[in-house]
Amino acid sequence: MTEPRLVIDDAAARDFRVHRSTLVEPAILEQERRRIFDRCWIYVGHESEIREPGDFHTRNVAGRPVILCRDSRGKPRVFLNTCRHRGATVCREARGNARLFFCFYHGWSYNRDGALVGVPGADAYPPSFRKEEHGLAEPPRVDSYRGFVFLNFDAQAMALRDYLAGATEYIDLVLDQSPSGRMEIIRGVQEYDVAANWKLLVENSFDDYHLLTTHKTWLDYLRNSGVEMKPPAQGHLLPAHGIGKELGNGHAVIDNVNFRGRPVARWIPVYGEAAKPEIERIRAELVARLGEARAARVADTNRNLVVFPNLVINDGSSVTVRTFFPLSADRMQVRAWALGPVDETAAARAIRLDSFLTFYGPGGFATPDDVEALEAVQAGIGATHREVPWSVMSRGMAKEGEQLNTDERHLRAFWLQWDRLMRGARPGA
Ligand code: FES
Repeated sequence: MTEPRLVIDDAAARDFRVHRSTLVEPAILEQERRRIFDRCWIYVGHESEIREPGDFHTRNVAGRPVILCRDSRGKPRVFLNTCRHRGATVCREARGNARLFFCFYHGWSYNRDGALVGVPGADAYPPSFRKEEHGLAEPPRVDSYRGFVFLNFDAQAMALRDYLAGATEYIDLVLDQSPSGRMEIIRGVQEYDVAANWKLLVENSFDDYHLLTTHKTWLDYLRNSGVEMKPPAQGHLLPAHGIGKELGNGHAVIDNVNFRGRPVARWIPVYGEAAKPEIERIRAELVARLGEARAARVADTNRNLVVFPNLVINDGSSVTVRTFFPLSADRMQVRAWALGPVDETAAARAIRLDSFLTFYGPGGFATPDDVEALEAVQAGIGATHREVPWSVMSRGMAKEGEQLNTDERHLRAFWLQWDRLMRGARPGA
């Protein structure tokens, strides 16, 4: 018996629909865990979070507790946070620097390279017991692209660089903000749960159709603060209101003309007069280093990038790195960090962190409204998806060529990849 289709892509009828059970059913979430989270490259963290040997962060990635750690030779490593003895999590701190990871249950200990180095009463084990066979387990694949560390639970997975496909162009644009080409996660994390399916945050992260209604409060605030709500002169880089673009393997981006300011060289009144000289200095550095055209590309556009399935880089009034995992079919856990050039001044960093809090933060102008919208969707479909089974996603389908940021081809790209993988295809196949 063939399984019923959950995504309808009827090009002739210009009809694209997503079945609402995909956002509700626990059985579908279980299948996502095996066919998506166990086969795609999943973001773990950033190399700048583990500067010295022994630096570590514990977090949940793709449903597993992991330790992101810099080993004794300075290499980023990812260990599964489960003791090889009976399974307890060996590291129960959120972050720190460790010479040893010591399991509190029976006292086995592991070094920074994951090797089992301490077994209390080791002489009671038979001769066949060999410590070197019981080091911390690692995901089959771990790799990084320009500081972003990913893991993959599929040993046969395609190379990370190939998997990222066109998303690398947009990650490179982020890195161009730094004179040295190096960016760092700024200490501190925003953590919150949302009572909604994880894919709703994917959609929301690059859905500009909701901007004018959901974010009216913020837009009014900008207007009332004297921000000119029209594209800057360099807006010829993109259509007036930005584009939506597929990047391969389910990744996509909205690429917009910036009117809401950027600490990397686009001043708006909400930053205050005192910030103006610093922002002008940053812009001059960008132009000197990259040339006018590339500097304008970096400074006068802003981008929301989705790396399939669950990494979002919002490169706007600050750079936010956000990832999220399903806790259940109707609940997700969100983690977000601010990313900035390692070489930026204290003044520029203050503007960046202010934007990170006041716009993207869970108490800021954007996120609470987005969370409310997502939870309203979940509440709406949770009890009604049998009576009203389909959501509509056909904006822009009748158009040839370029899609606007308010069209939905980039959302459809995510869902088509989701559908391919859920029906058994491997990423890149
Ligand atoms: S479970 Fe870790 S030492 Fe026993």
